[in-house]
Amino acid sequence: MKERKEKLKDSSVTVLGVKFGHSDIHSVVDAFYKEVAGHIRLKVPFKSVQDWPEHIDRMTQFWWVSFGGKAYMFSQYSPVWKHYGAGFNQEYLDDWLKLFHKTLKEHLNIEQMMAWKKISERMGKNLLVSNEMIKAQKNENF
Ligand code: HEM
Repeated sequence: MKERKEKLKDSSVTVLGVKFGHSDIHSVVDAFYKEVAGHIRLKVPFKSVQDWPEHIDRMTQFWWVSFGGKAYMFSQYSPVWKHYGAGFNQEYLDDWLKLFHKTLKEHLNIEQMMAWKKISERMGKNLLVSNEMIKAQKNENF
């Protein structure tokens, strides 16, 4: 475990032509969720998180893998259902993205910030569309 962490510290991945160290990703995710936990509105859906260090590790791997890196810990993600269960909507997404982009700005260089911002906006849109589809399907069953 310790060895794997040491190896990851020096690893990097390139997405949209921009290089990210594993440590860049970890520092953004770590800072972001510390802010989420204290955010006036976002802290409500995130009450489901029992173990923040574990959540931060999972989310660090999620972004690492999304950027093309290899998975290094056992973890299965089902974001569409988790978000539906958490009451995901446009308002929460706006708060989330605003805070996330602030965190990117504070921790990354401009190229990294722009690339990750773009990817997060795209993912947010996709999550919203999937969420609306589930909501519509549920309503049809009444
Ligand atoms: C671009 C925007 C977002 C991305 C890329 C994203 C990504 C993710 C991912 C990958 C997970 C882990 C899913 C899993 O473990 O299966 C997760 C969990 C979660 N997200 Fe998001 N998310 C976004 C926005 C939001 C928003 C706006 C909310 C507010 C409702 C939210 C609330 C949550 C909650 C409550 C969890 C579950 C935490 C837990 O209990 O394990 N997310 N998110």
